[in-house]
Amino acid sequence: MPRILVNNRNALRGRVEVSGSKNAVLPLLAATLLTDETCVLDGVPNLKDVDVMCSLLRFFGAEVKAEPAASRIEVRAGTIRTTVAEWDLVKAMRASIVAMGPLLARTGQAGIPLPGGCAIGERPIDLHLKGFSALGAEIHCDKDESGDVLVSASASRLIGAEVYLDFASVGATENIMMAAALAEGTTVIENPAQEPEIVDLANFLNRMGAHIRGAGTDNIRIEGVSRLHGAEHSVIPDRIEAATFMLAAAITRGDVLIENMLPNHVVPVIAKLKECGVRIEEDYSGLRVDASKNDFRATNIKTLPYPGFPTDVQPQFMAFLATVPGRSTVIETVFENRFMHIRELNLMHAEITEDGRRAAIKGGAKLTGAHVRATDLRAGAALVLAGLVAEGTTVVSDIFHIDRGYEDFVGKLAGLGAGIVRTEPGPGDEK
Ligand code: UD1
Repeated sequence: MPRILVNNRNALRGRVEVSGSKNAVLPLLAATLLTDETCVLDGVPNLKDVDVMCSLLRFFGAEVKAEPAASRIEVRAGTIRTTVAEWDLVKAMRASIVAMGPLLARTGQAGIPLPGGCAIGERPIDLHLKGFSALGAEIHCDKDESGDVLVSASASRLIGAEVYLDFASVGATENIMMAAALAEGTTVIENPAQEPEIVDLANFLNRMGAHIRGAGTDNIRIEGVSRLHGAEHSVIPDRIEAATFMLAAAITRGDVLIENMLPNHVVPVIAKLKECGVRIEEDYSGLRVDASKNDFRATNIKTLPYPGFPTDVQPQFMAFLATVPGRSTVIETVFENRFMHIRELNLMHAEITEDGRRAAIKGGAKLTGAHVRATDLRAGAALVLAGLVAEGTTVVSDIFHIDRGYEDFVGKLAGLGAGIVRTEPGPGDEK
């Protein structure tokens, strides 16, 4: 199994460039199924999840030309040859669910086995289905003899409707927006997700000929059109990757300039790091995070849908708080089971206790290297960050989670002076 080995004494210094956003590019790729014309995406990160989405598009019949060296992907879904997603691909990546809206809108049918992906909580899809159903689709759930569930939606024509989301789900908002883009009449999504990735998707859909207004606010209005055409689009920078490097600078008491990021996408992370005493300045070429001079103070964070503190930065921030003297609290409100990194951080001698959705951190502990397991994508990043300040060597296994969502994570950290390597399996090793 590949692993990441961290043995570092350095405060990180230098510049690092953020890649295109994983969470933006996945729905953008799915949206290319809405047209039989060619779509081109630039600024695409080279990630496992992107490979899985490309495989899924090919499985549906699209021609996909990926040029990872140029960060560019061209897709032409001339014909759709099947509307039921492949089990293995959906199991590999839960975000495959966002193919359902475009398929349903384009062909009147979409089927998907119940999704896998990161094991952070139950992650139901009821809100996606509520949206499809409001647009007039019939929903069926069929269980096969092995207990696997196939969810399918069908409609001869989708009709615009009002949809209220009980929770501002990112994936459900994206799926409903894409389905409604080709529906007859007007759809209004009340209480949609407001994440920058939603705005990026709406911009791309509008370039394809859709009429979407209000993305990024608490009310999205979509006037359906009968046809969408090909378009070109550049993916926004990855705000979660940017925040991860901010925390890498903070945890190592380093001084890093983060390039190709949009500071207004990470306002709560900047605010909370400043509360802890980290100096952050916007520079013409990026965001400078300087943690080299100050003493730090503990703080409390509570995850919320955007524009609140992002759940995807919670594990990395918790690793940092473990190194800050004083007592901090972390409350996770978005996912019900997103504290699996606590056990691993404690193996490194962090002092964190968990009570339901609340974690209490007795900060300032001297972390020590250990063998730890990346239990999900952002937990994996948090363990690598903890390894950067731990005494001795930290070995992180199950790094396939990290490969899903960070482009060249090890290379970028090494470029900032970190003592970090990736080991690949030898010929006789267990895969
Ligand atoms: C997206 C992001 C993920 C991030 C999450 C929250 C992608 C590819 N992934 O995931 O990195 O952590 O947003 O910011 O963009 N829920 C329901 N019913 C539903 C759908 C969701 O109850 O039908 C609940 C989930 O269980 C969870 C919460 O809503 O508790 C948030 O989920 P959601 O916003 O849908 O996250 P994803 O789109 O899966």
